[in-house]
Amino acid sequence: MGKIEGEWKEMDKKLRASIRLQAEEWIFEAGEMIRNKMSNPFIIDTKTNKNDLVTEVDKKTEKFFAEKVKETYPSHLLLGEEGYGDKVNNLDGTTWIIDPIDGTTNFVHLKKDFAISIGIYHDGIGEIGLVYDVMNDIIYSATKGGGAYKNKKKLSLLSKEKTINKSIFSFNHDLLIDDDHFDRNIIESFVREIRDTRTIGSAALEIVNVAEGNFDGYVSKVLSPWDVAAGYVILNEVGGVITRSNGEEVNMLEKGTIISSNAILHEKIIDNYFKKWCS
Ligand code: IPD
Ligand code: CA
Ligand code: CA
Repeated sequence: MGKIEGEWKEMDKKLRASIRLQAEEWIFEAGEMIRNKMSNPFIIDTKTNKNDLVTEVDKKTEKFFAEKVKETYPSHLLLGEEGYGDKVNNLDGTTWIIDPIDGTTNFVHLKKDFAISIGIYHDGIGEIGLVYDVMNDIIYSATKGGGAYKNKKKLSLLSKEKTINKSIFSFNHDLLIDDDHFDRNIIESFVREIRDTRTIGSAALEIVNVAEGNFDGYVSKVLSPWDVAAGYVILNEVGGVITRSNGEEVNMLEKGTIISSNAILHEKIIDNYFKKWCS
């Protein structure tokens, strides 16, 4: 049977509010589990290379969400970094895009500055974004059209900076390494123009810092859907823009570059730098 317009919208809003509450409850439960494990030793493995860390805590946390979602919303799919979710080929229906620990290197070495990141998409549209800074017990949240929040405080603080040479951008050292597709010289000229750079080490936390106006933007060479899915919804709610380096929309099923900032800076930096960056 086809969708009847209006009827679906009404149902979706109520459903969305209850899914958001449920997701937040699970995030707080998972956060508590992680905090309780911080002082005990945990098993650390590597994935694609010696610096791509994963711990038993990343895996257990994703498994926790995968089981909860399957049990409570059997028709929903879960796309997660550690492989406990589903094989997701399209974004039809409702999909939870989860990074159980974004910033695993921070989790292992610094024991802070990592987040649980959950983006909930319905028919390809980002409906709910939740980024939980576990050690600081701060949740950044948004629903599409409902505004973005830091705990209970509404966010409206996206940077209004219009000039590149007064802006602070966040990114990590990968940008300094040339490869077949990226030109380091472009980054060098960008860094020479901006005021300063920052790095947190968790893409989700960097994006919400742009939403909060602490950074004027965040740039990353290659991010996966679970790194950006939640931040995307939150940043959109404060009028921020997040695209690929050529200005194209982010496809939540693919890896790729990320350029995020307020709309004015975004257009300027794509035109002046980043559209030439990636071949
Ligand atoms: C990583 C962090 C990091 C970003 C990497 C991501 P992980 O996620 O977000 O800041 O630079 O590209 O892979 O592996 O810690 O979940
Ligand atoms: Ca991540
Ligand atoms: Ca992760």
